[in-house]
Amino acid sequence: MGFATDCIHAGQEPDPTTGAVAVPIYQTSTYVQQGIGQHKGYEYARTQNPTRRALEKNLAALEGGVDAYCYASGMAATNAVLSLIKGGQRVVVSDNVYGGTHRLFTKVLADYGVRFAFLEASDAAAFDRAAGEFQMLWIETPTNPLMKVCDIAALAEVAHRRGALLVVDNTFMSPFFQRPLALGADIVVHSTTKFLNGHSDSVGGVAVVKRTEHADWLRYVQNAAGAILSPFDSWLVLRGTKTLALRMPRHEENGRGVAAYLRAHRKVRKVYWPGFPDHPGHDVHKRQSSGFGSMISFDLGGRGAAEALLAKVKLCSLAESLGGVETLISHPATMTHAGYTQAERDALGIVDGMVRISVGCEDSEDLIADLERALQSV
Ligand SMILES: Cc1ncc(COP(=O)(O)O)c(C=O)c1O
Repeated sequence: MGFATDCIHAGQEPDPTTGAVAVPIYQTSTYVQQGIGQHKGYEYARTQNPTRRALEKNLAALEGGVDAYCYASGMAATNAVLSLIKGGQRVVVSDNVYGGTHRLFTKVLADYGVRFAFLEASDAAAFDRAAGEFQMLWIETPTNPLMKVCDIAALAEVAHRRGALLVVDNTFMSPFFQRPLALGADIVVHSTTKFLNGHSDSVGGVAVVKRTEHADWLRYVQNAAGAILSPFDSWLVLRGTKTLALRMPRHEENGRGVAAYLRAHRKVRKVYWPGFPDHPGHDVHKRQSSGFGSMISFDLGGRGAAEALLAKVKLCSLAESLGGVETLISHPATMTHAGYTQAERDALGIVDGMVRISVGCEDSEDLIADLERALQSV
């Protein structure tokens, strides 16, 4: 089936009891048994829930995996995937991932003896020379918030030559634009909070896998650790993915317009958007993705200027998060990347004047008018 058809139908048979077209919210904690061990495949709702299962099948189809497991947040999905790694093993991470990922790795999991190294990964050959041995490579592409592009196929080869796994956080692109498993990645992670749900009304996460051994382990961890996605959140995300193929082109069209507007503005020093032909890694991104998305970062030259803009925007909401139909604007240094130290942010180039915008599905002229008015006070 085509992608849009899968968005609407994959994992979603009409309800066997009533024929309901929309998968019901199975809001139950447990399931009655006819006798000891005699049940319909459902024993307890942490372990199995039909609404969550429908979403998992849907997302597995969209990312082209053998299976998927949904968790209470993107971070819970990340944590579950890291349980494939044991104390003493080494994980290499592309160098400007989401601040929460950096925080989990350096402040929590490092204390369990997992070794982490953060490396520039946009040049796969240089990365290969510098990386040493590792058991897992964790990347985002484009990275958050600098939009550095990593070559998924080349890095899969680098990881696999070491017998390691490649995990891609595909939150920024969604499977509509980019399908890392087909490019060689072993596991894809999403914060479903973002484009997959698309409406800024649910927090969740998913890990999609290519191998049944990983599916078995992640299902086991989902039940053992219990950070499950609720039935209602599962239903919201299922509702969101139905329109993914409609929303993403609109996000991108608006993103393109806003990126071009910002780039032409005299008060904007630099715009980071992979769709610009002179953006580093543009050609790689074009080869491995079918679009450039609507995540844009730009530098206004100093914290005061960023604060002035963020205080004046009205239609663009100053908020953490991204990927909703409404445009969200944020300040990476104090919001999404506050988990990095000032020195780490300086080294990466996450400057205090940087603003990140997740362009929504409004009328682009309204967004540009809002930015135009706010930029006057910068
Ligand atoms: C790229 C990326 N990955 C993971 C996460 C974590 O997801 P959640 O907030 O659902 O835990 C985020 C959250 O902003 C993100 O932007």
